[in-house]
Order: sequence, then C-alpha cells, then structure tokens
Amino acid sequence: MAERFRVVGGTALRGEVAVWGAKNSALKLMAVALLAVGRTRLTNVPAILDVTIMAELLRRLGCTVDYDAPSGVVEIDVPEKIGHRADYDLVRALRASTAVLGPLVARTGSADVAVPGGDAIGSRGLDLHAAGLEALGASVHVTHGFLVAEAPRGLDGAEIRLDFPSVGATENVLTAAVLARGTTRLENAAREPEIADIAAMLTSMGAQISGAGTSVIEVHGVDSLTAIEHAVVPDRIAAGTWAFAASATRGDVEVVGANSDHLVAALELVEASGATVTDTPRGFRVDSGGRRPRAFDVATLPYPGFPTDLQPFALACNAVAEGSAMITENLFEARFRTVQELNRLGAETRIDGHHVMVHGVERLSGAPVEASDIRAGAALVIAGLVADGVTTVSGAQHIDRGYAGFAESMQGLGADVTREPDDDPFL
Ligand code: EPU
Repeated sequence: MAERFRVVGGTALRGEVAVWGAKNSALKLMAVALLAVGRTRLTNVPAILDVTIMAELLRRLGCTVDYDAPSGVVEIDVPEKIGHRADYDLVRALRASTAVLGPLVARTGSADVAVPGGDAIGSRGLDLHAAGLEALGASVHVTHGFLVAEAPRGLDGAEIRLDFPSVGATENVLTAAVLARGTTRLENAAREPEIADIAAMLTSMGAQISGAGTSVIEVHGVDSLTAIEHAVVPDRIAAGTWAFAASATRGDVEVVGANSDHLVAALELVEASGATVTDTPRGFRVDSGGRRPRAFDVATLPYPGFPTDLQPFALACNAVAEGSAMITENLFEARFRTVQELNRLGAETRIDGHHVMVHGVERLSGAPVEASDIRAGAALVIAGLVADGVTTVSGAQHIDRGYAGFAESMQGLGADVTREPDDDPFL
C-alpha cells in the first residue's frame, strides 16, 4: 500500500535529532567488503531499504549477509569464490549497486553489471567508470543491457585523469586499483568525505592509498586484503537537511552525530540565511533566533562545494525567505522537480535553464504534492511545515530511502508529521 506524509504546518523545529552513517558511504563499503575473503563488520549503518537491496545483491554473489537494522550493524561473510553479476532488477532498484563493478573486476577478473537507466534526477552515465577500468587494463563493452568488464590476467596500475570528478567513477577506480599490479595515480578525483571513508576502510584492510579526500589519489596495489570492522562516516546530507529545516522553520535544532567539517559550504549558507551555527560536543546546533530566513544564492558544485543533494532544502528555505535568490544547479540537469511542487504550495519561482529565481513569500499554503526522489521528498515535508494548513507528500517510499524514521525524527522536534495510506484512486 502506497503511503504519504501528512504535515500540519506552523511548527518551528526545536530540540535534538540524531544522524546515522551516510547512505552513500554504507552502500559502497558493503561493495568494498567483496575485496576480502572473510567476515566484514560495518557499524553505524542507516536503517534504510537501500541497505536491504545491497545485501540481496551481495547474497546473489554468494556472500552471507546479516543486517540488523535497529542496531545499525551489517556483517558480510565473503567466500573464496564469488559470482560476478549484478542483475537488472537490483541495479534498477538501487543505482549505487554499480559500486560492485570495481571490486568484482579486481577480485574475479570480470564483472557483469546491469546498466542503470535514467532516473528522476538525470541521465548519469557510466562512461567515466568504464574509461577508468579500461585504463587499468580491463576490456569493457555493453551487451544485452549489461556493462561487461573483463581482465582475466588481472589489472595493472595506470595514470588516469577523470574528465569530471565523478563520485561513482572515483570509487570504482579506487576499489579496482587496490588489487592491481603496480601504482595507480588518479587525477581530478572526487573529494567527498565518503571517498575518504572508503579509502580509510581499504587502508585498514591492508591497501596502500594516499591522497584520498584530495583530487589526486595514489594507490600501490597489494596481493590481497583482510576483512575488518569499520564504522560508517556520519551522513552529512541528512545533517544538512536538518540544518536548513531549522532555518526554514525559524527553529533551533541540535544535530547529534554530525560532523560540521564535512558541511562547511552548506553551513556558511545556513549562516547567510541568518541562523547561528555552533559546534557542540555531540555535533552542531542551528539556532534561527526565531527569525524569518534571509534569501541566499546557491550554486551546486562537487565537494567541497555546495552539495547538489542539499539544493532542494536551500530552495525550500529560500521559498519562505525575505528577499530573492538565484539557485544554480551544476551537477544534475533534472534536479528542479521540487520547483513545480513548491509552486503548488504557493512558492514564487521561475526556472531558466539550470537556474531558478526564487522570490520568498511569508508563508506557503498547504496542498497535496508528490516526491520525485529522496531529497525532493524531504524538502517538500519541510516546506509543508512552513505552509498554512495541511500538506500531503505522496511517494513516502522515496523519503524512506534516505532517512530512517523521518516522521519520528520530525515528531521528536515537535512537528505534526505522520504517515498515512495514500488512497488516491488514480495512482
Ligand atoms: N557522470 C557522467 N558519466 C559518468 C559518471 C558521472 O556523465 O561516468 C555525470 C553524471 O551524469 C552527473 C555527474 O557526472 O551529471 C555527477 O555524477 P557522480 O558520478 O559524481 O554521482 P553519482 O556517483 O552517480 C553520487 C551520489 C548522489 C549525489 C552525487 C553527487 C551515491 C549513491 N550517489 O552519485 O546522491 O547526488 O554523487 O554528489 O553515492 C542521493 O543520495 O540521493 C544521490 C543522488
């Protein structure tokens, strides 16, 4: 049965909220486990459906996976011999499953990974992933909907320069290069904290990596890696979500378990909106002082720039801010779906190519809206909090993929947010 979030507007979020490990690290670390025979233990894993899907993918490759969602622990037993195929039903359900590409080629000498189609936020190709693996000596081609990479005699270190600092391509080159012969130098690598987290886990497993978290990563290949225990890096996107939510709703929120060092660009804009941001022993606090946010311009960029995943929240905050702002999306062409839905709530916006002009209004006006992806959905719930009356956000399953217990977290901050069946007869 489809569900939606029901939001009663008018509450300023107050109190504390906890964040878990980053979805976009946890899923990749599960793929990294394939690189070592034995039992890997991951902690601080978020309780989300995507982890269940990745667990199923690893099981189909021959691993035994135990996922205890409430305690945030995933244990993966990797046998000596594993499969090398990621089926379309799983890749379609979870794009991040393409992260098994690098580990599978490195461990088994071949990988057949279904090519994901387009999704709600853009085309997202695999060309950079393929070029990186080819540079390491794999032969790569697409057949019957699968990207097939083969390196029966193993991989060789190489000098590689990515045309764009793609997160996924950086990860696949890194996870392939750790078992390659010789040295790999990857230039224009993505610098996200999740890349540094993957490198930290690989290093504890015995890999030799320097420069992860900068744009040049060097890897000296080793013969084998050892299974270990690793805690997932805190979710900076969930933490940033609560930061903008505090400012938009004129609230005061402590985000527990967050690391503000990973959110410098975003928290600068939260401060530009008029809120005060302070580090606390357990995370950070965003206090709006009860004031209406001021408008602030945003341009998304690869890390350490402003994250595209937080753009919908900056948009929601500007929709009720004093003044006008320009939001520029530089990463994903289709990431303005939130705009049409915000307009249904009375936002004043105009899209011009990859820019949106937003003129803040004092309050939005509650209405039924639809989530198109994780972040758009969560941003619409926040918009519902600053709207008069009731807003319903259909497509609750999208929000569940990025935020464990989103309604409960909202309730803990005093908001009237609940889940209900989505009984739209035309859905
Ligand atoms: N791109 C290519 N060719 C490639 C790879 C990427 O053209 O071979 C383009 C994409 O089309 C896109 C841009 O490069 O326009 C950025 O893609 P990137 O590879 O950096 O992103 P990703 O690995 O597909 C991850 C996160 C996204 C996040 C982006 C950007 C995961 C599972 N996903 O995607 O997170 O928006 O990095 O930071 O790690 C989310 O969590 O909801 C989410 C979408």
